[in-house]
Amino acid sequence: MHGTLSNRPAATGFFLTFEGGEGAGKSTQITRLADKLRARGHDVVVTREPGGSPGAEAVRHVLLSGAAEPFGPKMEAILFAAARSDHVEQVIRPAVERGAIVLCDRFFDSTRVYQGVTGELDPAFVQALEDVTVNGIVPDMTLILDVDPQLGLARAVARRGQGVADRFEKETLAIHQRRREAYLAIAEAEPDRCIVIDASGEPEEVETVVTAAVFAALEARAPMPTAASANV
Ligand code: TYD
Repeated sequence: MHGTLSNRPAATGFFLTFEGGEGAGKSTQITRLADKLRARGHDVVVTREPGGSPGAEAVRHVLLSGAAEPFGPKMEAILFAAARSDHVEQVIRPAVERGAIVLCDRFFDSTRVYQGVTGELDPAFVQALEDVTVNGIVPDMTLILDVDPQLGLARAVARRGQGVADRFEKETLAIHQRRREAYLAIAEAEPDRCIVIDASGEPEEVETVVTAAVFAALEARAPMPTAASANV
Protein backbone atom coordinates (compact mmCIF):
# COMPACT_ATOMS: atom_id res chain seq x y z
CA MET A 1 0.00 0.00 0.00
CA HIS A 2 1.37 3.41 -0.93
CA GLY A 3 1.18 6.45 1.28
CA THR A 4 0.20 6.54 4.91
CA LEU A 5 -3.18 6.38 6.50
CA SER A 6 -2.01 8.18 9.63
CA ASN A 7 -3.75 11.46 8.80
CA ARG A 8 -7.05 9.75 8.14
CA PRO A 9 -9.65 9.79 10.93
CA ALA A 10 -11.13 6.43 12.01
CA ALA A 11 -14.78 7.04 11.09
CA THR A 12 -14.90 8.22 7.51
CA GLY A 13 -16.80 8.17 4.25
CA PHE A 14 -15.63 6.38 1.15
CA PHE A 15 -13.11 7.68 -1.38
CA LEU A 16 -13.45 6.10 -4.81
CA THR A 17 -11.28 7.04 -7.77
CA PHE A 18 -11.78 6.28 -11.45
CA GLU A 19 -8.78 5.83 -13.69
CA GLY A 20 -8.04 4.82 -17.25
CA GLY A 21 -6.82 6.06 -20.59
CA GLU A 22 -8.50 8.50 -22.95
CA GLY A 23 -12.09 7.67 -23.91
CA ALA A 24 -12.53 4.95 -21.28
CA GLY A 25 -15.92 6.42 -20.32
CA LYS A 26 -15.06 7.49 -16.77
CA SER A 27 -17.28 10.56 -16.66
CA THR A 28 -20.34 8.68 -17.95
CA GLN A 29 -19.88 5.99 -15.33
CA ILE A 30 -19.30 8.49 -12.53
CA THR A 31 -22.52 10.36 -13.37
CA ARG A 32 -24.56 7.14 -13.44
CA LEU A 33 -23.05 5.81 -10.22
CA ALA A 34 -23.60 9.12 -8.43
CA ASP A 35 -27.30 9.04 -9.40
CA LYS A 36 -27.69 5.51 -8.05
CA LEU A 37 -25.91 6.29 -4.78
CA ARG A 38 -27.93 9.47 -4.25
CA ALA A 39 -31.12 7.53 -4.89
CA ARG A 40 -30.07 5.31 -1.98
CA GLY A 41 -29.75 8.38 0.24
CA HIS A 42 -25.98 8.75 0.27
CA ASP A 43 -24.18 12.08 0.48
CA VAL A 44 -22.16 11.98 -2.79
CA VAL A 45 -19.45 14.37 -3.96
CA VAL A 46 -18.42 14.17 -7.63
CA THR A 47 -15.12 15.75 -8.50
CA ARG A 48 -12.25 15.48 -10.98
CA GLU A 49 -8.56 16.09 -11.57
CA PRO A 50 -6.75 18.14 -12.55
CA GLY A 51 -9.16 20.55 -10.89
CA GLY A 52 -12.02 20.11 -8.46
CA SER A 53 -11.21 23.18 -6.32
CA PRO A 54 -10.74 26.82 -7.38
CA GLY A 55 -6.97 26.65 -6.87
CA ALA A 56 -6.65 23.40 -8.79
CA GLU A 57 -8.88 24.61 -11.62
CA ALA A 58 -6.50 27.57 -12.06
CA VAL A 59 -3.63 25.11 -12.59
CA ARG A 60 -5.71 22.82 -14.85
CA HIS A 61 -5.61 25.24 -17.72
CA VAL A 62 -1.83 25.56 -17.57
CA LEU A 63 -1.49 21.78 -17.78
CA LEU A 64 -4.10 20.91 -20.42
CA SER A 65 -3.23 23.79 -22.75
CA GLY A 66 0.30 22.42 -22.96
CA ALA A 67 1.79 25.63 -21.53
CA ALA A 68 3.92 23.62 -19.08
CA GLU A 69 4.93 20.92 -21.60
CA PRO A 70 8.18 22.61 -22.74
CA PHE A 71 9.45 22.51 -19.16
CA GLY A 72 9.29 18.73 -18.98
CA PRO A 73 7.41 16.00 -17.10
CA LYS A 74 8.96 16.89 -13.74
CA MET A 75 7.49 20.38 -13.94
CA GLU A 76 4.15 18.93 -15.00
CA ALA A 77 4.20 16.36 -12.18
CA ILE A 78 4.79 19.11 -9.63
CA LEU A 79 1.95 21.20 -11.08
CA PHE A 80 -0.43 18.21 -11.00
CA ALA A 81 0.68 17.68 -7.40
CA ALA A 82 0.08 21.34 -6.49
CA ALA A 83 -3.43 21.10 -7.94
CA ARG A 84 -4.02 17.79 -6.12
CA SER A 85 -2.85 19.10 -2.77
CA ASP A 86 -5.33 21.98 -2.95
CA HIS A 87 -8.10 19.65 -4.11
CA VAL A 88 -7.40 17.17 -1.29
CA GLU A 89 -7.42 19.80 1.44
CA GLN A 90 -10.29 21.92 0.14
CA VAL A 91 -12.66 19.24 -1.13
CA ILE A 92 -11.76 15.57 -0.62
CA ARG A 93 -10.60 15.49 3.00
CA PRO A 94 -13.56 17.53 4.34
CA ALA A 95 -16.03 15.39 2.38
CA VAL A 96 -14.52 12.09 3.53
CA GLU A 97 -14.40 13.34 7.12
CA ARG A 98 -18.09 14.21 7.15
CA GLY A 99 -18.91 10.72 5.85
CA ALA A 100 -19.59 11.41 2.16
CA ILE A 101 -18.86 9.13 -0.75
CA VAL A 102 -16.36 10.93 -2.99
CA LEU A 103 -16.22 9.93 -6.67
CA CYS A 104 -13.10 11.39 -8.24
CA ASP A 105 -12.31 11.30 -11.95
CA ARG A 106 -8.52 10.60 -11.89
CA PHE A 107 -6.20 10.90 -8.90
CA PHE A 108 -2.63 9.93 -8.06
CA ASP A 109 -2.52 6.91 -10.38
CA SER A 110 -2.77 9.33 -13.32
CA THR A 111 0.42 11.03 -12.17
CA ARG A 112 2.14 7.68 -11.63
CA VAL A 113 1.18 6.60 -15.15
CA TYR A 114 1.26 9.77 -17.28
CA GLN A 115 4.18 11.61 -15.65
CA GLY A 116 5.91 8.73 -13.86
CA VAL A 117 5.89 5.96 -16.44
CA THR A 118 5.48 7.67 -19.80
CA GLY A 119 7.29 10.81 -18.55
CA GLU A 120 10.08 8.50 -17.36
CA LEU A 121 10.49 10.14 -13.97
CA ASP A 122 12.39 8.56 -11.10
CA PRO A 123 9.82 6.39 -9.24
CA ALA A 124 11.27 7.55 -5.90
CA PHE A 125 10.59 11.17 -6.87
CA VAL A 126 7.01 10.36 -7.91
CA GLN A 127 6.42 8.47 -4.66
CA ALA A 128 7.85 11.23 -2.48
CA LEU A 129 5.76 13.85 -4.28
CA GLU A 130 2.65 11.70 -3.92
CA ASP A 131 3.15 11.17 -0.19
CA VAL A 132 3.38 14.87 0.64
CA THR A 133 0.58 15.75 -1.77
CA VAL A 134 -2.12 13.39 -0.55
CA ASN A 135 -1.05 13.63 3.10
CA GLY A 136 -2.85 10.43 4.10
CA ILE A 137 -5.84 10.64 1.77
CA VAL A 138 -5.55 7.38 -0.16
CA PRO A 139 -8.47 6.01 -2.21
CA ASP A 140 -10.44 3.21 -0.55
CA MET A 141 -11.08 1.82 -4.01
CA THR A 142 -9.87 2.56 -7.53
CA LEU A 143 -11.73 1.41 -10.61
CA ILE A 144 -9.46 1.18 -13.63
CA LEU A 145 -11.59 1.36 -16.76
CA ASP A 146 -9.55 -0.61 -19.23
CA VAL A 147 -9.95 -0.16 -22.96
CA ASP A 148 -7.77 -0.72 -26.02
CA PRO A 149 -6.22 2.72 -26.68
CA GLN A 150 -7.27 2.57 -30.33
CA LEU A 151 -10.92 2.33 -29.29
CA GLY A 152 -10.48 4.84 -26.47
CA LEU A 153 -8.89 7.45 -28.72
CA ALA A 154 -11.62 6.94 -31.36
CA ARG A 155 -14.22 7.58 -28.65
CA ALA A 156 -12.32 10.66 -27.45
CA VAL A 157 -12.23 12.04 -31.01
CA ALA A 158 -15.96 11.39 -31.47
CA ARG A 159 -16.72 13.14 -28.15
CA ARG A 160 -14.53 16.12 -28.98
CA GLY A 161 -16.02 16.72 -32.45
CA GLN A 162 -14.26 19.65 -34.12
CA GLY A 163 -12.36 20.58 -30.93
CA VAL A 164 -8.59 20.33 -30.63
CA ALA A 165 -6.92 17.35 -28.86
CA ASP A 166 -5.50 18.35 -25.48
CA ARG A 167 -1.85 18.09 -24.39
CA PHE A 168 -2.12 14.39 -23.46
CA GLU A 169 -4.74 13.14 -25.91
CA LYS A 170 -2.56 14.07 -28.91
CA GLU A 171 0.27 11.68 -27.99
CA THR A 172 1.10 8.56 -30.02
CA LEU A 173 -0.72 5.25 -29.82
CA ALA A 174 2.47 3.62 -28.48
CA ILE A 175 2.46 6.02 -25.51
CA HIS A 176 -1.21 5.31 -24.79
CA GLN A 177 -0.43 1.60 -24.95
CA ARG A 178 2.33 2.02 -22.35
CA ARG A 179 -0.13 3.85 -20.12
CA ARG A 180 -2.61 1.02 -20.38
CA GLU A 181 0.10 -1.44 -19.34
CA ALA A 182 1.17 0.83 -16.48
CA TYR A 183 -2.39 0.94 -15.12
CA LEU A 184 -2.62 -2.85 -15.30
CA ALA A 185 0.69 -3.11 -13.44
CA ILE A 186 -0.63 -0.86 -10.65
CA ALA A 187 -3.73 -3.04 -10.37
CA GLU A 188 -1.57 -6.13 -10.08
CA ALA A 189 0.63 -4.53 -7.43
CA GLU A 190 -2.32 -3.23 -5.37
CA PRO A 191 -5.15 -5.75 -5.71
CA ASP A 192 -6.80 -4.67 -2.44
CA ARG A 193 -7.38 -1.16 -3.78
CA CYS A 194 -7.71 -1.59 -7.54
CA ILE A 195 -10.27 -3.33 -9.72
CA VAL A 196 -9.80 -3.53 -13.47
CA ILE A 197 -13.04 -3.20 -15.41
CA ASP A 198 -13.39 -4.02 -19.09
CA ALA A 199 -14.68 -0.73 -20.53
CA SER A 200 -14.86 -1.80 -24.17
CA GLY A 201 -18.59 -2.62 -24.07
CA GLU A 202 -21.68 -0.45 -24.10
CA PRO A 203 -22.05 2.03 -21.21
CA GLU A 204 -24.91 -0.06 -19.74
CA GLU A 205 -22.74 -3.20 -19.58
CA VAL A 206 -19.88 -1.32 -17.93
CA GLU A 207 -22.34 0.31 -15.52
CA THR A 208 -23.58 -3.09 -14.34
CA VAL A 209 -20.05 -4.16 -13.44
CA VAL A 210 -19.17 -0.82 -11.82
CA THR A 211 -22.35 -0.83 -9.71
CA ALA A 212 -21.81 -4.40 -8.53
CA ALA A 213 -18.20 -3.71 -7.54
CA VAL A 214 -19.00 -0.50 -5.66
CA PHE A 215 -22.09 -1.78 -3.87
CA ALA A 216 -20.21 -4.90 -2.76
CA ALA A 217 -17.39 -2.74 -1.37
CA LEU A 218 -19.83 -0.45 0.46
CA GLU A 219 -21.74 -3.36 1.93
CA ALA A 220 -18.51 -4.90 3.19
CA ARG A 221 -17.93 -1.77 5.26
CA ALA A 222 -19.60 -0.47 8.37
CA PRO A 223 -22.99 1.21 7.71
CA MET A 224 -22.53 4.56 5.96
CA PRO A 225 -24.31 7.72 7.04
CA THR A 226 -27.04 8.70 4.57
CA ALA A 227 -27.52 12.31 3.46
CA ALA A 228 -30.35 12.66 5.99
CA SER A 229 -28.32 11.44 8.99
CA ALA A 230 -25.14 13.26 7.91
CA ASN A 231 -26.91 16.61 7.85
CA VAL A 232 -28.41 16.50 11.32
P1 TYD B 1 -9.48 15.62 -19.04
O1 TYD B 1 -9.91 16.56 -20.08
O2 TYD B 1 -9.91 15.88 -17.63
O3 TYD B 1 -9.91 14.25 -19.55
P2 TYD B 1 -10.05 12.73 -19.25
O4 TYD B 1 -9.82 12.46 -17.78
O5 TYD B 1 -11.44 12.45 -19.69
O6 TYD B 1 -9.02 12.06 -20.11
O7 TYD B 1 -7.91 15.52 -19.15
C1 TYD B 1 -7.05 15.26 -18.16
C2 TYD B 1 -5.72 14.90 -18.81
O8 TYD B 1 -4.67 15.11 -17.87
C3 TYD B 1 -5.67 13.45 -19.23
O9 TYD B 1 -5.08 13.35 -20.51
C4 TYD B 1 -4.76 12.82 -18.22
C5 TYD B 1 -3.88 13.95 -17.77
N1 TYD B 1 -3.41 13.83 -16.37
C6 TYD B 1 -2.06 13.62 -16.13
O10 TYD B 1 -1.27 13.54 -17.07
N2 TYD B 1 -1.62 13.52 -14.84
C7 TYD B 1 -2.47 13.62 -13.77
O11 TYD B 1 -2.04 13.52 -12.60
C8 TYD B 1 -3.87 13.85 -14.02
C9 TYD B 1 -4.84 13.98 -12.90
C10 TYD B 1 -4.29 13.95 -15.35
